[in-house]
Amino acid sequence: MHLRVLSPASPQAVALLSVWNVCFWVCGLILAVVTIAILYIMIRFRRRDASEPVQTTGNQKIEIAWTIVPILLVTFLFALGVVAARAVDRPIRRAPDILVIGHQWWWEVRYPASGFTTANEVHLPIGRDMLIGIESADVIHDFWVPRLGRKIDAIPGRRNFVWIRAEEAGEYAGACAEYCGAQHAWMRFRVDVQPPAAYDAWLTHQSAPAAEPATADAKLGQTLFGQLTCESCHNITGFHKQEPYAPDLTHVASRQMLAAERLENTPSNLRDWLHEPDVLKPGSFMPNLKLSDSDLSRLTAYLETLQ
Ligand code: CUA
Repeated sequence: MHLRVLSPASPQAVALLSVWNVCFWVCGLILAVVTIAILYIMIRFRRRDASEPVQTTGNQKIEIAWTIVPILLVTFLFALGVVAARAVDRPIRRAPDILVIGHQWWWEVRYPASGFTTANEVHLPIGRDMLIGIESADVIHDFWVPRLGRKIDAIPGRRNFVWIRAEEAGEYAGACAEYCGAQHAWMRFRVDVQPPAAYDAWLTHQSAPAAEPATADAKLGQTLFGQLTCESCHNITGFHKQEPYAPDLTHVASRQMLAAERLENTPSNLRDWLHEPDVLKPGSFMPNLKLSDSDLSRLTAYLETLQ
């Protein structure tokens, strides 16, 4: 999964790429003309003897040409930009389907109609116009999924919007595109585009409260989760209600990656993350609680039940 700008998978990204393509060739043509002209002049008018070459001042035809041609080019590119902007930024006449909130250094993802919150993973149905509201909880971030749409800033105290209509099922890499501090590079996320039935099943699953721990270790882990004050920052619906200062963990085990794409979500990686978050993601606000081996096992066992 890469940030491939050149293989668009939504009408929005296609519109952006078509502007990019035209600009690329227009600018390439200008570069070629200027380079060839300079090379020609360097050779044709090179110094052959000590005398001054013939001087020419003013040529009305050339001056008219180099005024008109750039005006036409810029007007053409402007019109192209307006057409693409209209295709990408359509009017907003309703509440967003999804709310994405940038945090240092992860993404909170809310589905208001279904009433749940998740993190670092946005799911979209194929072929539906989805309106995504973009906000920030702290500093300026920027939501960017190159294959699906434009970059859009996440600005504190303001809600921006982006339309995405994903046309192909699959996973798409996303990244924060505005420098936002130590872990800006690990503020990644993914967009999972699913057929409508799979998308609806995902919504239903995510809306359910957290599973109750079944094993003794997992039950002890659940108690630790409260004692160690994990619950002061993380919400687990059905167990503990908390404003999301940190990623919602209700269904953390169902997610593919941990810590904003830093690690694949496996039990051993989860354990490593709980053990040394400051090593895996220096500067992260997830504290190193200096957990003992048995506490690490119990917490991991508990979090793994949160499918
Ligand atoms: Cu958030 Cu860069």
